[in-house]
Amino acid sequence: MKQKEIWKCNVCGKVIEILHPAAPETICCGQPMVLMEEKTADWKGEKHVPKITIEGNKVTVDVGISMGTPHPMADEPEHYIMWIELICKDNCYKRQMLSPGMEPKAVFTVSDTSGLKAREYCNLHGTWVGTD
Ligand SMILES: [Fe+2]
Repeated sequence: MKQKEIWKCNVCGKVIEILHPAAPETICCGQPMVLMEEKTADWKGEKHVPKITIEGNKVTVDVGISMGTPHPMADEPEHYIMWIELICKDNCYKRQMLSPGMEPKAVFTVSDTSGLKAREYCNLHGTWVGTD
């Protein structure tokens, strides 16, 4: 278990992030929670890998929009991007929470645009990362 990992309970759907790792297992609903591994390659037609676009100090992270196939953001909450994060090289995390019906993108302002990494979480397909 490592800092910033995302874990999910497959019974109740709870999602947690590790801020400080300790005991190897976290139990929810009577079972160990499942690590949402960071995936880096898209599969099938659906786009999940977050794309970073830098303009000055403004950093836009989108999921599929810049590739012409935006990730679904259903008006009903069964499939959508729950949040988008930007990780700067000094391990500073910025997070934008999203809701169904919003665009699958987030805009952040950073002082140093080198070494950026983006991470997003899809409620059905888990955690995905991309770099600039
Ligand atoms: Fe998805």
